[in-house]
Amino acid sequence: MFRESIKKMAAYVPGEQPRPGQLLIKLNTNENPYPPSPRVRRAIAKAIAGPALRLYPAPRADEFVESASRIYSIPQKMIIAGNGSDELLAMVFRATLGAGDTVAYAVPTYSLYDTLALVQEARIQHLPLGPDFELPLDALASARATLTIVCNPNSPSGTLTPARKIAALAKQLADRMLVIDEAYVDFAEENALPLLKRHRNLVILRTLSKSYSLAGMRLGLCFAHPDVIEALMKVKDSYNLSRVALAAGAEALNDSAWMMHNVAKIKRTRSNAEAKLRKLGFTVPASQANFVLARMPGKDLAPVARGLRRAGILVRHFATPLLRDALRISIGTPAEMAALFKALEPLVRPAPARRRARA
Ligand SMILES: Cc1ncc(COP(=O)(O)O)c(C=O)c1O
Repeated sequence: MFRESIKKMAAYVPGEQPRPGQLLIKLNTNENPYPPSPRVRRAIAKAIAGPALRLYPAPRADEFVESASRIYSIPQKMIIAGNGSDELLAMVFRATLGAGDTVAYAVPTYSLYDTLALVQEARIQHLPLGPDFELPLDALASARATLTIVCNPNSPSGTLTPARKIAALAKQLADRMLVIDEAYVDFAEENALPLLKRHRNLVILRTLSKSYSLAGMRLGLCFAHPDVIEALMKVKDSYNLSRVALAAGAEALNDSAWMMHNVAKIKRTRSNAEAKLRKLGFTVPASQANFVLARMPGKDLAPVARGLRRAGILVRHFATPLLRDALRISIGTPAEMAALFKALEPLVRPAPARRRARA
């Protein structure tokens, strides 16, 4: 019934999503611990009033794209909206990669790229990140792949490649597409949007799931040259965003001050968390995202993740050779982080009595 490639491939594994009513501190899928702007709730109420739900939504997401155009000062013909940036990634893969075409990216990174490439039967070129998670720029440029992706800030490392390096890579790749997945960029010091004018091959993806606290609404944005946008329109579902999502997305962008206030709080909590994790003996690369990667080089941290789970705290552990010695921890509220550290400390620091007994 299915193509050979689909039969052979493994499904993407999302982080655990608790069942309704399950009381867990959720630090595993980089959601925002603060609610979206109250203006979003009002916009949703308005969107579902009257006969609106009987009618299809705007196929080109007009009101959401208009808000994005205004906020980011990018013409509307350079913007397409997606049902989360995951859908935009799927559209990019569908539009650019056929069987045997190459897609290149540095690893470890967002593992959905592998899944999307396997669906397309594309050839995947994984290039290792440097010891401090630096992007292998020369290797990415010389791979000359049909599609090159840079997750920036990268997940799970949280590290940021400076925009001038992204510009250099875009230039070297010339007419080959370079996608910058900026899902976490609102938590970072700079972004690649200003480069769009000079590099026709650059495609920038954003999401409202993280900084705008709207993971449940599924809203993403793609910024690119108008020719790229038109190609992506061809492979998109006709009505990919609901009326509710479009109204919520437009109003969230209109109140970006709310988002920035939450981002500032999360960045403060992030620097406290980094310092505390280092005190506990973790190696933590400086994060520019709403999560941190806490490593104990050479030590499998799966038991620590399980211990935290037993204490009612979800963090992300990836059972892969590159990441088994790491936990990716989303930044929660100060109270959630305090609960995390209370549970984490005994798991990584053996009790003094036990230490004495062993000695
Ligand atoms: C790097 C990266 N890109 C894209 C996404 C997808 O975000 P969205 O919720 O917009 O589909 C995620 C979600 O975790 C992510 O980590």
